[in-house]
Amino acid sequence: MKVLVTGGLGYIGSHTCVQLIAAGYTPVVLDNLHNSKLGVVSHLKKILDQDVQYYVGDIRDRQLLQSIFAEHDIKAVIHFAGLKAVGESVEKPLEYYENNVYGTLALVQEMKAAGIKSIIFSSSATVYGDPEEIPIRETTATGATTNPYGRSKYMVEECLKDLHIADPDWSITLLRYFNPVGSHPSGLLGEDPQGIPNNLMPFIAQVAVGRREQLAVFGNDYPTKDGTGVRDYIHVMDLADGHIAALQHVSDKAGVHIYNLGTGTGTSVLEMVAAFSDACGHPIKYQICERRPGDIAECWADPSKAKADLKWQAQYGIAEMTADTWRWQSNYPNGFSD
Ligand code: NAD
Ligand code: WQD
Repeated sequence: MKVLVTGGLGYIGSHTCVQLIAAGYTPVVLDNLHNSKLGVVSHLKKILDQDVQYYVGDIRDRQLLQSIFAEHDIKAVIHFAGLKAVGESVEKPLEYYENNVYGTLALVQEMKAAGIKSIIFSSSATVYGDPEEIPIRETTATGATTNPYGRSKYMVEECLKDLHIADPDWSITLLRYFNPVGSHPSGLLGEDPQGIPNNLMPFIAQVAVGRREQLAVFGNDYPTKDGTGVRDYIHVMDLADGHIAALQHVSDKAGVHIYNLGTGTGTSVLEMVAAFSDACGHPIKYQICERRPGDIAECWADPSKAKADLKWQAQYGIAEMTADTWRWQSNYPNGFSD
């Protein structure tokens, strides 16, 4: 079964391609290389011992979508492509709405024209904003988002729900990821952020490998276990498997299927620093700084719905997330540029 994977050369998409092939699916990748490098392809080949078919192009290029759908018998689309930097989205809201919202509409319109009515969309815990309850369930209120990136995810969710109301044959799966971290256990594939990392784990990894001097811990006065922010970090291989589970259990069923993909466990910034020090064998230098505007104190998922319906639950803990990240970062200190 062929699956179109938009954004398939990016961080989560590339790991999902590995697991798709392991599960017997054939990914067809579409990526415009905005935030990824073609070098990913050769790393995928080393892991898989086979080629992954890919197109370098944009989800907003309707002619390209038409030709891909004409050439391949695509049964479902996993839609990762998009922009994801929260701070940048505040500076460049139009680019975010154009890529994330309009891009998704173009994709879905061309899917409709090609008679493909199954999409798995990369949503985010960001749609819950500052959550009204913890752990966060799929029924927890969404929409009080705090930045254009988060709003773009919420808008796409609402567009896709409306599409299902208009045409109930569609299978719409909204996967709300918590905090994806970690790398493929081979050390051949991982996150390769361009410029200064926005997220905690890649920043720690770059401090560990000597690319950055120290981590700035954004606040230690939150009402959390040690005062630093608490998040539900999920291993990217578990996340990838969540997409396989969604393909197997709901992508051929009409409906709107919404799942939190998290572990159900919260980890603080200082706990993550300690775990990474264990993984790399030396202390991670850090300094306590001001809170980062817009950050929430804590959040973690209630992942029980995914367990019940998708027969999926996260397998890996912080020790594997940090060890695998360190293997990738120490093998490839400069990411795919190496
Ligand atoms: P990523 O930037 O590594 O991957 C996204 C890929 O999409 C990149 O390879 C980029 O080149 C490509 N892309 C961007 N715009 C495109 C376009 N218009 N046409 C074709 N390709 C395009 O990001 P990721 O971490 O792998 O995230 C994948 C998805 O998951 C995104 O939609 C993101 O918003 C969502 N998500 C990510 C996180 C996270 O923390 N990483 C959390 C929740 C949700
Ligand atoms: C985690 C914790 C920071 C960096 C973001 C997006 C969210 C989703 C996942 C896509 C927080 C602290 C961080 C640093 C730090 N992405 N921190 N020093 O903010 O939970 O979520 O990524 O959908 O939408 O907002 O993740 O990794 O940035 O931060 O102390 O240099 O680490 O304050 O407590 P976040 P993060």
